[in-house]
Amino acid sequence: MQICRNKRAIRDCVSQWRDQDQHVALVPTMGALHDGHLQLVSRSREWLDQRGGGKIVTSIFVNPTQFDQASDLASYPRTEENDLRLLRQAGCDAAFLPAVDDIYRPGAQTVVEVTGLSRMLIGRLRPGHFRGMSTIVTKLFNIVRPDMAAFGEKDYQQLAIIRQMVADLDVPIDILGVPTVREADGLAMSSRNSRLSPEDRQAATALCAALDRGEELVMQGCSLAALRAELRRVLRNQPRASIRSIDIRDATTLARLTRIDRPVVMLLAVAFGDVLLIDQRTARP
Ligand code: PAF
Repeated sequence: MQICRNKRAIRDCVSQWRDQDQHVALVPTMGALHDGHLQLVSRSREWLDQRGGGKIVTSIFVNPTQFDQASDLASYPRTEENDLRLLRQAGCDAAFLPAVDDIYRPGAQTVVEVTGLSRMLIGRLRPGHFRGMSTIVTKLFNIVRPDMAAFGEKDYQQLAIIRQMVADLDVPIDILGVPTVREADGLAMSSRNSRLSPEDRQAATALCAALDRGEELVMQGCSLAALRAELRRVLRNQPRASIRSIDIRDATTLARLTRIDRPVVMLLAVAFGDVLLIDQRTARP
């Protein structure tokens, strides 16, 4: 696996592959890799194999502009050595680990913002988060110029924003959404899980329990109000859970609903101690 620590190195690497007519897939990450990320790599490999093969770049960049709190940025887990080991084992072809000042040059003024989708839901809880995210994803797309980029469905709103951005700006890159990978007890894998105390780690299974119950209710044809009340009830059963938001939206557009008459997505944001976790589930009536 090639290790590229700046834009020039990854551009040279990708352009050599392009000269050999290789397809290129990008897996953007902020490191602290777990099986969820490795699943993005393996689904990217399948995508490439269906097109005659190609190369995978995984970027590891803790993007400062998508953190709304300095303490969250400072405490974000950084596990480079282990990340590189996992990527080698997973068959990744290049790791791109740029420095912050290689990515953000002084005096930069341009941002990319998907205005509607970025200002709802998690965007309300974390102002500026999605603007930072869509700006860095656009920059990674322009630096690596992949044919495809893979993102986890766990970050449902993020994925919706990226799909909207790619459509709005005619970005010639396929976006692959990859289903959430879960621990044996149902907790969605996340780099943030490592910051949970043992008690909070145990308590965090309430997210998946609430979503399981919610999915059952949607399939039984329950009302929007009953679904919201039940999600809240299951989460409140867990005293360590501090509910930040419970939303039930149109699964495609994330628009508000007045009744459950189409596929919905249940989106939960719940803090355990100072760690904010999100999880989601789609369901059809
Ligand atoms: O999902 C993430 O890890 C980040 O938001 C991303 C897409 C790598 C952009 O920094």
